[in-house]
Amino acid sequence: MSHNVEKWIDELTIEEKAALLEGRDSWNTNAVSRLGIPKLYLTDGPHGLRKVREDQGGFAITDNEHSTAFPTSATIASSWNPDNAYRMGAAIADECLAAGVNVLLAPGLNIKRSPLCGRNFEYYSEDPLVSGITGSAFVRGVQSRGIGCSVKHYAANSNENFRFVGDSVVDERALREIYLRAFERVVKEAQPYTVMCSYNRIGGTFASQNKWLLTDVLRGEWGFEGVVMTDWGATCDRVAGVLAGCDLDMPGGVWHNRRSIIEAAHRGQLPIETLNQSVKRVATLIERCTVQKPTEPVICEDPAQLACEIAKDSAVLLKNDGTLPLSRNEKLLVVGEMFEKMRYQGAGSSLINPPLVVTPKDAFDQRGVSYTYHKGYRAFYPERDIALERHALDAAVHADTILFFGGLTDFDESEGFDREHMRMSDNQTSLLESLIATGKNVVLVLFAGAPVELPFFDGLSALLDMYLPGMYGGEATAALLYGELSPSGKLAESWPLTSGDSSCSADYNHGPVAEYYESIYVGYRYYDKTGTKLRFPFGYGLSYTKFHYDNLSVSEQDGEIVANVDVTNIGERSGAEVVQLYVRNNITSEVFKADKELRAFAKVYLQPDETKTVTLTFLRSELSYWHVKLHRPVLENGDYEICVAASAADIRITAPFTISDAEEAASPYSDAVMSDYKSPPQSISASFAELVSNRAGTDTVTKKRAPYSLETQLHELRRSFIGRLFVSAMMMLIQKDYKKALSMPDSLERDTQLKNGYFLVRMIQYNSVRSICMASSGRFPYHIAAGIVELANGHLWRGLKAICRREKPLPLPSEQ
Ligand code: BGC
Repeated sequence: MSHNVEKWIDELTIEEKAALLEGRDSWNTNAVSRLGIPKLYLTDGPHGLRKVREDQGGFAITDNEHSTAFPTSATIASSWNPDNAYRMGAAIADECLAAGVNVLLAPGLNIKRSPLCGRNFEYYSEDPLVSGITGSAFVRGVQSRGIGCSVKHYAANSNENFRFVGDSVVDERALREIYLRAFERVVKEAQPYTVMCSYNRIGGTFASQNKWLLTDVLRGEWGFEGVVMTDWGATCDRVAGVLAGCDLDMPGGVWHNRRSIIEAAHRGQLPIETLNQSVKRVATLIERCTVQKPTEPVICEDPAQLACEIAKDSAVLLKNDGTLPLSRNEKLLVVGEMFEKMRYQGAGSSLINPPLVVTPKDAFDQRGVSYTYHKGYRAFYPERDIALERHALDAAVHADTILFFGGLTDFDESEGFDREHMRMSDNQTSLLESLIATGKNVVLVLFAGAPVELPFFDGLSALLDMYLPGMYGGEATAALLYGELSPSGKLAESWPLTSGDSSCSADYNHGPVAEYYESIYVGYRYYDKTGTKLRFPFGYGLSYTKFHYDNLSVSEQDGEIVANVDVTNIGERSGAEVVQLYVRNNITSEVFKADKELRAFAKVYLQPDETKTVTLTFLRSELSYWHVKLHRPVLENGDYEICVAASAADIRITAPFTISDAEEAASPYSDAVMSDYKSPPQSISASFAELVSNRAGTDTVTKKRAPYSLETQLHELRRSFIGRLFVSAMMMLIQKDYKKALSMPDSLERDTQLKNGYFLVRMIQYNSVRSICMASSGRFPYHIAAGIVELANGHLWRGLKAICRREKPLPLPSEQ
């Protein structure tokens, strides 16, 4: 503890300490001017700096300062190049320094459990190694400039529909091996200044008051020394939160929470040592971000150019019969409004307001490409437009090649709600199918944050997935289509044919209790074992060139496994290959396991005929499984296999690998669990309750719902008369922003604000009464929230009494 912090702790009153543990408003923490303790400014992340122009209230997201819109996390993960994440982090931090921001609320490390999660565009991968390595690099990049990161959303937050109220019931092994693993790596490797806990419960206890998660694991086991903060509005019982190790309550202004800390400290229910621990951590963060911070941005890479470079390195070529790269001689028909209104980022708290966007149309025009263009459909509307379709189809007669620009819209995927299926909207698919039926070469250029159904796949000549490529995505698209460089991204997620094929489809979003019945069988760990036919496997991606793998050698030294393999570019163009190392698990294992798991990867850039030796390393201990009775990793003896691969389904070269000096531990599982889990279960298995009962920190596995409570989601509250009135009032408030955006002249700014307005309108219904209160920065006080719930339950008198209680906000110490 620094001298400053020690002195502050000695001199702060309990009231001031409580103030330090609460934000002041949406984005600032409280200062204590008496002692010269400054405030901090925290804001989103992760795909650029989102700083609101002014504090507009509870959600405060529609009107943001200009900043660089980088490719989203799903995109950058497809580059399999952590250097991209590092440079992007550093460039965003430079913008933070210039804007007076201290902590960036990023990156999102949640695992993609289902392709339907609306926020998948903001997460890296279904695999914890890819998420952990990419996330670590990002955090190191940001923090290299003295800006703190808040890695989020800790933990097991894999859906949006129930994120505010849901309970993730996950067995201890799946938590350790899948859902916590990326957080563990980032905490240990990159030491983020802060961690943001998620909204949901884990095993019955809200993350914001889950001692097992925040103190035992995060601090006790992983050595995290920074601040834990809540997600915006994730507090339930604030005192329970501090006792569990949750330091900072965000956003601020919920004085009722501050008061509960003060009262509990005075009454001795919150020991002063515990309070001081949290205050020490927040004070240390303040000191780190203010007193010790660099004063100037260090190097300024041109952030826009960097965004473009990363987009080029991340795009995934998913099919090509030789139509790509395009030549300049063909008669080209371009169809799809996304050509001029490219979808380059997702909606929600990560939404950036870039100063400009370079669309594919801009980039084609700048290159002097000759093409005929028809909109075919309207990007912001899901309905078909027959006249637009007709024009496009008529023009197809004269074309050699048709480029179709399409993908998901903000109506389909966004923070705040999940997709119901993986389909693109009908106005795109019906036109695309008709264009394919003309018999011309059709190339689909896709803009989407997650996989989509491709029923027309066989009819396509080529498919280039740009994901959500950031503000310079159009330039990257044109460069790749015209072969100025070769695509080199690979999927960081498996791509099922339909969402029904995914590992958790039997119980995804069926209610607030999410039973992670598939345990460790997430993504390729599931598909490998079930042999499900996929559209594309994990790690898949093509290039304009080809690579040959040779000479694999494996050695072991001091617990580290080193694999060397020669990779040669055997085609005629330069390109890059993502080399993946999976380890096939010992088939004689005592416990159920995935067939193989990713243990290392590297991206290698090669000129034609060039060979490079690629070195892939990992710790032998990483082959351990989590033993749920010993509550620690156990490494098993046995015959493993090192598989060097171009994708999870394309193993190129293997080497045996035996472990014979490890410990032997008896299986923790009963026969029932072993028999249900030897292969991935297709629905909630009979032994699931037994599996989750092993988990440390488990409370209850329950699907019960109260009548109306503070935990009721707004769409449910609507069932009561008072609820309807309340929800309509909320909607009116929120629709104000949306309507304001609608009345703006057609512009980039309008599109950005519309995206945000729409996100809020959709998201609000999934909020609980409590989370709205907690996220409102004091504008929707707790006693009013409680009163509305009473009224909705028909308790008129109690409700009115609560609402009319003249609760005066508790002044901040500096205001007294
Ligand atoms: C999101 C966080 C975000 C925060 C502040 C929350 O609703 O879940 O990711 O950092 O808002 O905008």
